Amino acid sequence: MLIRLNSFLINIIFFIFISVISNPAYSEEKNVDLLKINWSFKGLLGTFDRSSLQRGYQVYQEVCSACHSIQYLSYRNLSEKGGPEFSEEEAKAIAAQFEVLDGPNSEGEMFTRSGRLSDKFVKPFPNVEAATAANGGAYPPDMSVLAKARKGGADYIYSLLLGYEDAPAGYELDDGVYYNKYMTGQKIKMLKPLSDGAVEYSDGTQATEAQMAKDVATFLTWAAEPHLEVRHKTGVRAILYLIVLIILVYFSMKKVWSRVDSKDDLEQQEDTFDKVEKWTTQYEGDDPKSFK
Ligand code: HEC
Repeated sequence: MLIRLNSFLINIIFFIFISVISNPAYSEEKNVDLLKINWSFKGLLGTFDRSSLQRGYQVYQEVCSACHSIQYLSYRNLSEKGGPEFSEEEAKAIAAQFEVLDGPNSEGEMFTRSGRLSDKFVKPFPNVEAATAANGGAYPPDMSVLAKARKGGADYIYSLLLGYEDAPAGYELDDGVYYNKYMTGQKIKMLKPLSDGAVEYSDGTQATEAQMAKDVATFLTWAAEPHLEVRHKTGVRAILYLIVLIILVYFSMKKVWSRVDSKDDLEQQEDTFDKVEKWTTQYEGDDPKSFK
């Protein structure tokens, strides 16, 4: 008994230990707490806010795309289900705004043409070196999976965009380096990209800094996980399926075991045995085995 209690306690302590060390809050030195807002895509049933995604695309295109690429996204993704869901016409029109390098043609030369739905998002720089050189020695990371690659995801991007401040007194900053309280080391080589009214939303939403930060963070979360909605739906279906399965299994278990469990049945069986015994002894003397 004592041994069993002991191992039970050890199990509990082990469990608490594991949950503590696997909790991100304990597993590393405390960073600044990120700003938190209610994202529509969080949670089991979360879906993206379409108009926020469309506005987020606008912010990316008009501001961020000057430096950051999204190399894995194609223009056709913009009209796919679960994304910003622009109509196909709109997505085609968006693609057509860009010049894409294609070729070689029959003369062996590369040429430019206007973009099509099947084209990947046009990159601001041809390669990492060019991008780094143009940005004072810092590479503006590709945004295809940035929201997944950085701890905190959408919260991190949102906070970073709103995290520019004057450096505290006595803080040394080189040229082209800015103070941002959410960046590792508080130093970032990206000029504050957003300011109120940086874009003009066509749906009439006020383009405040916080609104643009929220929209672009939503857009980048979708870019990093375009199938999030399908995944959520599948998850919910799997859970419903399991619930139904558990109910079915429970009732069939009850049915299968009912004859063993039921007290009435047992009593009835005993009664029958008693009766049989009585009859046999009645007809064949005391020994029931001699009954033929
Ligand atoms: C003028 C060029 C430029 C523009 C415009 C720009 N960025 Fe950046 N961004 C950079 C550079 C350069 C870095 C790398 C900074 C560093 O490593 O210090 C960077 C880094 C980042 C990072 C990553 C920080 C990290 O954890 O490494 C995020 C997130 C980011 N930018 C988001 C945005 C968003 C969102 C926009 C549009 C609203 C935007 N940027 C617009 C140049 C730019």
